[in-house]
Amino acid sequence: MARKKVTVVGAGFVGSTAAQRIVEKQLADVVLIDIVEGLPQGKALDMMQSAAVEGFDTHILGTNDYADTANSDVVVITAGIARKPGMSRDDLLNTNAGIVGGVVDQIVAHSPDSILIIVSNPLDVMTHLAWKRSGFASNRVFGMAGVLDSARYAYFIAEALGCSIKDVRAMVLGGHGDTMVPVPHFTTVNGVTLTELLPADTIEAINDRTRNGGAEIVKHLKTGSAYYAPSASSVAMVEAVLLGSNRLLPVCALVNGQYGIDNLYCGVPAMVGANGVERIIEVGLSQSDLAALQNSAMAVKELVGALKG
Ligand code: LAC
Repeated sequence: MARKKVTVVGAGFVGSTAAQRIVEKQLADVVLIDIVEGLPQGKALDMMQSAAVEGFDTHILGTNDYADTANSDVVVITAGIARKPGMSRDDLLNTNAGIVGGVVDQIVAHSPDSILIIVSNPLDVMTHLAWKRSGFASNRVFGMAGVLDSARYAYFIAEALGCSIKDVRAMVLGGHGDTMVPVPHFTTVNGVTLTELLPADTIEAINDRTRNGGAEIVKHLKTGSAYYAPSASSVAMVEAVLLGSNRLLPVCALVNGQYGIDNLYCGVPAMVGANGVERIIEVGLSQSDLAALQNSAMAVKELVGALKG
């Protein structure tokens, strides 16, 4: 069977680390594309030179030419500028809208049957824009953020409990921004609900740290933003599609009526498999969590409205 083909757009830290994870896991051959000449070529060659040591047969090609991306099965879009200290993800809105819009046009032209996973910020708005611009069915366009936010939540929980992170299942819904909604009732340590394990004020402090999980890293790095956890989270979604595993993940998906949200991309629990978003799972949220999710959706809606053009 021919290997699957994944294009990663953007050879910055998130994109190149995602590409590395995909080839090392031997999930697919990768095309790494960027507008900067030499950057994807150099990184791809470097990764290929690691293949003998790491022992992978998958191939990575670095390019500036979209013709090389033709007939990709999955496309991960990381292109755009990242945050600097003091900037919110929303500050990136119109710059990244221009970049992501242009990328989507190229991808649609060369890989009309692909599944798009958006990683560029502000995440929910970029995903909405990619869906509109591509004309693809909504199941084939979704965004990565809930997996990342939930991974951060899980880490802070494991740290607070002093337990293995392998047993932590965490759920963060809503937009990938200050209004995201960590959901303690859907967060368990091997089936035991978080609220049974930690006092309410400790949970609230962890929720806050999770909401600021990305900003905390930007503050440390000063010149860029996180990429190890964002790339790992994107690749988890790529893997769910390529393996058709129907994983239940928090996904930035087109919500149409569920949770009282209409025709808007926002982070909700969904099954991810061979067709992308296989279905959105509507579950009973507490009144306050539902209100927080709807508030987060409103924040996304405002940004969608603020898109120029
Ligand atoms: C973060 C950026 C990638 O949360 O949104 O780290």
